[in-house]
This record gives sequence, structure tokens and C-alpha cells, in this order.
Amino acid sequence: MKDKVAVITGAASGIGLAIAKTFAQGGAKIVIADLDCDGGERAKDEIEKLGASAIFAKTDVSQAEDVRQLVAATIKSYGRLDVLVNNAGIQYIAPVMEFPEDRWDSLIGVILTGTFLCSKYALPHMIENKWGRIINIGSIHSKVASPFKSAYIAAKHGVLGLTRATALEVAAYNITVNAICPTYVRTPLVEKQIAEQAQRHGITAEEVITKIMTEPALIKRLLEPSEVASLALYLCSPAAAGITGAALDIDLGWTAR
Ligand SMILES: NC(=O)c1ccc[n+]([C@@H]2O[C@H](COP(=O)([O-])OP(=O)(O)OC[C@H]3O[C@@H](n4cnc5c(N)ncnc54)[C@H](O)[C@@H]3O)[C@@H](O)[C@H]2O)c1
Repeated sequence: MKDKVAVITGAASGIGLAIAKTFAQGGAKIVIADLDCDGGERAKDEIEKLGASAIFAKTDVSQAEDVRQLVAATIKSYGRLDVLVNNAGIQYIAPVMEFPEDRWDSLIGVILTGTFLCSKYALPHMIENKWGRIINIGSIHSKVASPFKSAYIAAKHGVLGLTRATALEVAAYNITVNAICPTYVRTPLVEKQIAEQAQRHGITAEEVITKIMTEPALIKRLLEPSEVASLALYLCSPAAAGITGAALDIDLGWTAR
């Protein structure tokens, strides 16, 4: 990653922050793209403490003008754009019949349209350098469904299709495009869900993880953000140069049956 410039969306928190720190430790310059200004500035400080260079660009990935400005800020600061991680995501849970239409639009907007817009505006700079890596953070829900998450599942399935379509178009420029499909990862969002479910069902946090959240998984634990970050780092390495259009499962065996 030495001197590579990596744009990571949703890098103020959770998986995105872990990827940003892992890339920074590998020598990359980091562009944190997030809606959350306080979290974005905190992430920038954390990365600078690791001895790496970082900028924060307030961005709503679902808005084309914001994404154009993000890419312009990256080029202005660092003169190049090598790696894009489309990680920003949101969730909303409701049955299809009760799913609010504005929530549907915002979920598809952030996860699917956001991935499209960031790829669209980042790619010309990768093509210019004849090298690039796009990593889309999918989910087990890119491949299988769970009830009450229709918009999230539709968007994450869409991300897989977009990953493959983009991979086909840019392979000739030495650009790979892949998706990472994790199961539950220990992020602030998931910790909150665990606490809520423990209270609702009158069970311990550990029981929520082993009996409810990871029930279909073969290995009964949560993933750590660093495990997803290591896979993202691998996809940027020379060893992974032959992997494109792929959806890499890191799901504790969830989708094995
Ligand atoms: N945590 C899990 O269990 C899990 C599992 C599989 C996939 N994922 C995926 O990983 C990604 C990161 O999830 P996380 O758990 O780290 O979540 P998180 O909530 O900790 O972080 C998401 C970040 O995205 C930012 N964001 C939200 N909307 C945005 C927008 N419109 N523009 C820019 N930034 C925006 C938020 O401010 C936040 O910093 C998501 O795409 C999520 O779907 C998470």
C-alpha cells in the first residue's frame, strides 16, 4: 500500500475505520468519506497518530455532486486515486408491507447508488494510472435473505451485480473489482443490537450472539472489523491481482449450507 491513495466511504466508524487504519499501517494515504463530521475528524486524528496522512471529506455517497467533490478533493490533496472501498451503509428493519418508501429510497441510495457513483467518478483516475482496486463491502445478505431487511438485501444483492459488471468493463486497465461478503461484525451498530436483544429476550449478550445472531453460522462468534480489513488489504496485494468480479465470503460458514 506504500504511497497508494485509498478513498474509503463510511470510514468514520466500524468496518470502514478498521480498513482505513489497516491501509494506513501499510503506508497508504487515506481519504475518509463520511456524512459524520465528528467521527470523520476523529478517524483522521487516529490515522495521523499511526504516522500516516489522511484527509476527511464530508460526503453523502448517494449524491452525485458530493461524490464529484470527494474525488476532486482527493486529486487536489494527493494527485491520484488508487483504491476505492465502497463501505458506507445503513440498515432499516420492517416487513415489506410496512416498509416506508422513503427508507427504501435512502437504503438503495446509500448502498447501491453510492457504490455506483463512487466507482463512476473514481475509475477515470485509476484508468489514467492503469492500476486500481475497487472493493465493495457486500454482506451475507448479498447472497441469502433474512426477513424484514428487504431494502438492505435488495441493495446488497445489487452490489454483487454491479461488482461483476464493473469488473468486466475495467479488467483491461489492470483494475480489479471485488466484493467482500461478511456476516455479523462487532461494530458499534451490532453491539447496540446485541444489548437490545438481550434485554428484549431476557438473555445474556453471549446467548444473543450464539443462539440468535449466529444461529445459521458454523463458527459461533462475531467477526472482528480487523478480519474484514485484512481481507481488503489482501485484495490490494500483488497476490490477489488475479481475483476480479469475485464475491469473497467471510461469514463463519453461514452460507455453507
Ligand atoms: N456490522 C456488520 O455486522 C456488517 C455485516 C455485513 C456487512 N456490513 C456492511 O459493512 C459496511 C459498514 O458497516 P458498519 O457495521 O461498519 O457500520 P457503521 O454504522 O459502524 O458505519 C457506517 C458508516 O457509514 C456512514 N454513512 C452512512 N450513510 C452515509 C452516506 N450517505 N454517505 C457517507 N457515509 C455514510 C456512517 O456515518 C458510518 O460512519 C456497511 O455497508 C454494512 O452494510 C456490516
